[in-house]
Amino acid sequence: MTDTITIRRPDDWHVHLRDGAMLEAVAPFTAKQFGRAIIMPNLSPPVTSAASAAAYRDRIMAALPAGSGFTPLMTCYLTDDADADDIAAGHAAGIFTAAKLYPANATTNSAHGVTDVAHIMPVLERMQEIGMPLLVHGEVTDSDIDIFDREAVFIERVMKTLIGALPDLKVVFEHITTEQAVRFVDSCGPNVAATITPHHLHINRNAMFAGGIRPHAYCLPVAKREIHRLALRKAATSGSPKYFLGTDSAPHEIHAKESACGCAGIFNAPYALESYAAVFDEEGALDRLEGFASEHGPNFYGLSLNEDKVTLARSSAVIPENLAVADATLVPFHAGSELNWRIL
Ligand code: NCD
Ligand code: ZN
Ligand code: ZN
Repeated sequence: MTDTITIRRPDDWHVHLRDGAMLEAVAPFTAKQFGRAIIMPNLSPPVTSAASAAAYRDRIMAALPAGSGFTPLMTCYLTDDADADDIAAGHAAGIFTAAKLYPANATTNSAHGVTDVAHIMPVLERMQEIGMPLLVHGEVTDSDIDIFDREAVFIERVMKTLIGALPDLKVVFEHITTEQAVRFVDSCGPNVAATITPHHLHINRNAMFAGGIRPHAYCLPVAKREIHRLALRKAATSGSPKYFLGTDSAPHEIHAKESACGCAGIFNAPYALESYAAVFDEEGALDRLEGFASEHGPNFYGLSLNEDKVTLARSSAVIPENLAVADATLVPFHAGSELNWRIL
């Protein structure tokens, strides 16, 4: 049995660092594990211009512990009136690494999202031309579509048309949760990839209702049936360069989660790599963790690989029930249960 594993430092290709006091509280966790991270732009108001992204990047840098080598990679929140020239200029200036498509009202702070992809076709055409990746929250928002079917329906109604119209656009299907998404991503060319979260590899939808309602297992897209979790595990551990690490760590204060209308989001940043390592270990695929965590993402984005290393050791520890950081109380993923890996 392998008891330690050393890999290139991983990157997180999808994370919510928030702003203000929450940013101060959560940024050190991500910066401790990862070399770089794709920073989600769903602040309120959203990050829609290169100037606001540059200012947000400065606030992130200021929230990092002294001496941190962490690099935030910024994204542009697309709206119906997104401007192709602005976005291309922000990309050329090295401010925007990618742009994010939130269907309007699909998830947290997505009210300003895109109401119809047709509205942003000129932007997407330009992104295809300049090789700028489009990151997609892939769920339809129609209330007549069952919440467990919203990703699968999005593939049929939006993704297939999008890739058909823009066959060379670099697309990351973010936080995939279904076997349909795996099948779709596998069927596309190398310009279409996906991130997979630790929580969708660990839990199925039963976790939300285990002995009562469990708000800390609620995120969007919601966890699905067990067959979907197994399909995600297979994809993540397959060695395919199309799948890479994206935690979707999405902190909300404990009172916003434990509420009559609790927020969607799982805060997994503090033990993210340990959580992925447990999955790869259970699947007998520890030798593929480095590709998923540290190589496939930078290769897809056309960035260099991190040169420094991290070592994980097999060692069991119980994850705390909550973390009091700065003024916030946050419940981490795996709270109260054991994880069998730790970072040395
Ligand atoms: C995210 C958030 O809270 O910002 N929530 C979530 O459940 N994943 C938004 C998102 O990634 O869709
Ligand atoms: Zn999302
Ligand atoms: Zn997210």
